[in-house]
Amino acid sequence: MMNEKDILKWYIDAGVDAICGDGPLLQSTEVKNKESAVVADASQMGMLACKNARQICEKANSLEELLKAVENFDGCSLKHTANKTVFGDGDEHARVLFVGEAPGGDEDRVGMPFVGKSGMLLEKMLKSIGLERKKCYITNLLMWRPPGNRTPTSAEVAVCLPFLKRKIELINPEVVVALGAPAANALTDSEDAISKIRGKWMEYELSVGKKIDLLATFHPAYLLRNPAYKAKTWADLLKLKKKLSNK
Ligand code: URA
Repeated sequence: MMNEKDILKWYIDAGVDAICGDGPLLQSTEVKNKESAVVADASQMGMLACKNARQICEKANSLEELLKAVENFDGCSLKHTANKTVFGDGDEHARVLFVGEAPGGDEDRVGMPFVGKSGMLLEKMLKSIGLERKKCYITNLLMWRPPGNRTPTSAEVAVCLPFLKRKIELINPEVVVALGAPAANALTDSEDAISKIRGKWMEYELSVGKKIDLLATFHPAYLLRNPAYKAKTWADLLKLKKKLSNK
């Protein structure tokens, strides 16, 4: 049996942040019209938040300034449900920058990306091709954990994307590795599944026009659930190793 505290926690984890009444509401035309107006308002607010994020990012000239800007930024509601902001970790002059999707429970507790089971696997993957975690830069598409690890909405991705793009610009790595489709699709024109885009060299274009090699591969969390895909990931990692040794 769930007590009130458990029920409340369940709601919070599911992303509920307001209660309108005890029961379901009647969907009258008036209510529906009001809902459409609220949706229109919300998308307007989302666009404003994205514009604001882009402007803030343009002004940040170092990772430190960008982190300060994130700390003052209030345009993503995930910030209010998360425990910590997970900005990124590693060498700011890294040759390789890895991008995951969003912090999970462990990352949200610690405030660092990839510190849980996925992170342990990622570190093993790096070691297998002679890379040290501290010599890479590791970050995520989103800087805050979505409640209950739910899939991020497109509005949440859109508002966090300028921060990721600015991080890439400031670090200026030789290679970006997207871990999973959400990161790969957010940084390229692709809308495809990871099984289709993995292991192929793509390009990520910086706002200044410079292009950076981008490789997508399976997300470590996916590999933990589907170990059979480790062989394909190994092939992708060898491609990364070869690219770095040719640069
Ligand atoms: N999964 C991610 O995509 N990022 C993390 O930081 C941890 C798990």
